[in-house]
Amino acid sequence: MPAAPKLHVREAGAGRAVLLIHGFPVDSSMWTPQLAALAARYRVLAPDLRGFGESPLPARPATIDDFADDLLPVLDRRGIERAAVVGLSMGGYVALSLAERHAGRLSALVLCDTRATADSEAGKKGRTAMADRALREGAAPIADDMVKGLLSRATLESNRGLAGELWAWIAGASPHAIATALGAMRARPDRRGVLARIAVPTLVIVGGDDTVTTPAENEAIAAAIPGARLERIEGAGHVPNLERPEEFNRVLLAFLDGIV
Ligand code: MLT
Repeated sequence: MPAAPKLHVREAGAGRAVLLIHGFPVDSSMWTPQLAALAARYRVLAPDLRGFGESPLPARPATIDDFADDLLPVLDRRGIERAAVVGLSMGGYVALSLAERHAGRLSALVLCDTRATADSEAGKKGRTAMADRALREGAAPIADDMVKGLLSRATLESNRGLAGELWAWIAGASPHAIATALGAMRARPDRRGVLARIAVPTLVIVGGDDTVTTPAENEAIAAAIPGARLERIEGAGHVPNLERPEEFNRVLLAFLDGIV
């Protein structure tokens, strides 16, 4: 098995470990409001997944399981046996891979704005077209296409600054990392069968106006995981941690604080 790339990790705080896994195609910067809020009580780790932010991209195709396996040395190097794993969207796909294949490394699970199904055939075609476009034209057109869909109408009207920030993050991403992640997402398996076997405390969070991974999809995930709670952040789209950070942090901290 090829060696895992050494990921860049943003870290803050001390206490029980919380691992924050970012979405596509951004990096650990998207967790800035959570690093600040959680660090008072937790040891927070926010890695850049392979190819994003400051992490290297191995020159080979990758699967979502590879993205997940990259995180094990992040925990091992720090002597962390178990972490509360929080994944948003693509980060949720990675978190579900960990939950299925490395269940013993999780103390809790938080799935945000994600899905457990595989891509449809049309979705797979869209991934291929987007990857080709990123490699041909760079990341800026990907940012042009994506930003509006990530944010709720309320956020777009009230927080133009966030739209600009998201655009810059996506436009700054490596086209090769974008293409690699798209290939990994396109090939990911249906993990609905994993949900009933998840045995750690689980919270599902979804923006009430998320059109990328809808409230209905996230409600179905919560309903399939024994004892899971669902929190809906009204007025937010696909990135409630950035659109409504205070409310997102409140529900996340209440959940983490409640785990004995
Ligand atoms: C993400 O936010 O990580 C992506 O929208 C996930 C996806 O494209 O399936």
